[in-house]
Amino acid sequence: MSVTPWHVTGRVDYAKIVEQFGCKSIDTVLIDRIERLTGQTAHHLLRRGIFFAHRDLNELLDAHERGEPWYLYTGRGPSSEALHVGHLIPFMFARWLQQAFQVHIVIQLTDDEKFLWKDLTVEESQRLARENCKDIIACGFDAQKTFIFTDFGYMGHMYPNVVRIQRCVPMNQVRGIFGLSGEDSIGKIAFPAVQAAPALSTTFPHLFGDRKDVRCLVPCAIDQDPYFRMARDCAPRLGHPKPALIESTFLSGLRGLDGKMSASDPSNVVFLSDTPEQIRAKVNRHAFTGGGATLEEHRKHGARLEVDVPWQWLNVFMEDSKRLEHIGNEYGSGRMLTGEVKVELANVLIQVVERHKAARAAVTDEVVDAFMLDVRT
Ligand code: TRP
Repeated sequence: MSVTPWHVTGRVDYAKIVEQFGCKSIDTVLIDRIERLTGQTAHHLLRRGIFFAHRDLNELLDAHERGEPWYLYTGRGPSSEALHVGHLIPFMFARWLQQAFQVHIVIQLTDDEKFLWKDLTVEESQRLARENCKDIIACGFDAQKTFIFTDFGYMGHMYPNVVRIQRCVPMNQVRGIFGLSGEDSIGKIAFPAVQAAPALSTTFPHLFGDRKDVRCLVPCAIDQDPYFRMARDCAPRLGHPKPALIESTFLSGLRGLDGKMSASDPSNVVFLSDTPEQIRAKVNRHAFTGGGATLEEHRKHGARLEVDVPWQWLNVFMEDSKRLEHIGNEYGSGRMLTGEVKVELANVLIQVVERHKAARAAVTDEVVDAFMLDVRT
């Protein structure tokens, strides 16, 4: 198993990651606390352990209880136009946090990162950032409390904090935590400071003035943890609180639970642009299941839910917890068949994708500008 911000290989052992990275598991006490503070049932991604780890979340909630301001920060590297359903997870969850706590969110589109790591021109990365921005807006963020920016566009405003962070971090530390070598471009060594800077409130004077004490909570997939370990190291030295984190597992590909879903094999992923027919065909043909090899065996032993992709995906995308539990019981005991579970999954995915398409179609250029060009220059 290996998890870095750029590659996830092998079956990921999340308990081991918590130990290796030094973050904390999210337990029911913490989830109960969030429910108490928001007066809402926790989002299913939290209740079902898909957001499973954190750093300093209790400290952030303490500050919240004291009435202190804080904000959310998440982001996306715009490497492709074709977003897949896995890309929605952090944004669905961030949007829930925003409405539950009524806080600002800043969303970084790292067009510079993708230029440095992928075979893309600057212009193409910028175009993809704007396209991806529409998908993000379609997740339902509150226009009054959301600021979306690209690194190319906002760099002049961020740059003071970027260089403050760069001065804090020795080259060896970046090489170590990000696994870079002497052959990598100098852009890659410099970039982590760019992803760390938005975790400091003074990067957004138009939102927080010159206040250094506004805390930040970053919802992200666990592979982004190294960036924020670095940010947490620097923040106190720059007079800021350490950013808190709430971290998720990865959605596996359809073909099996190893590694994270990657868009390079279209039969392994469900795109947000797929038609209902394509979704049904992909789920039917490619989803790896833990069902019994024969009908008799399946009836006798039930499905092995721990390796079953439809079951894992239903946990992420099926909001109805009663129905999910029913499926788990029936399928796990062999009364429900693999084919039936695939139908359930396809229906849920079709609903998610069709809802997304409709919401995205309503995002005009004017709407994008309203979320992005909010900066007072
Ligand atoms: N590096 C992330 C990616 O490749 C994008 C990103 C930037 C991000 N800032 C973030 C992700 C903050 C989570 C939180 O997708």
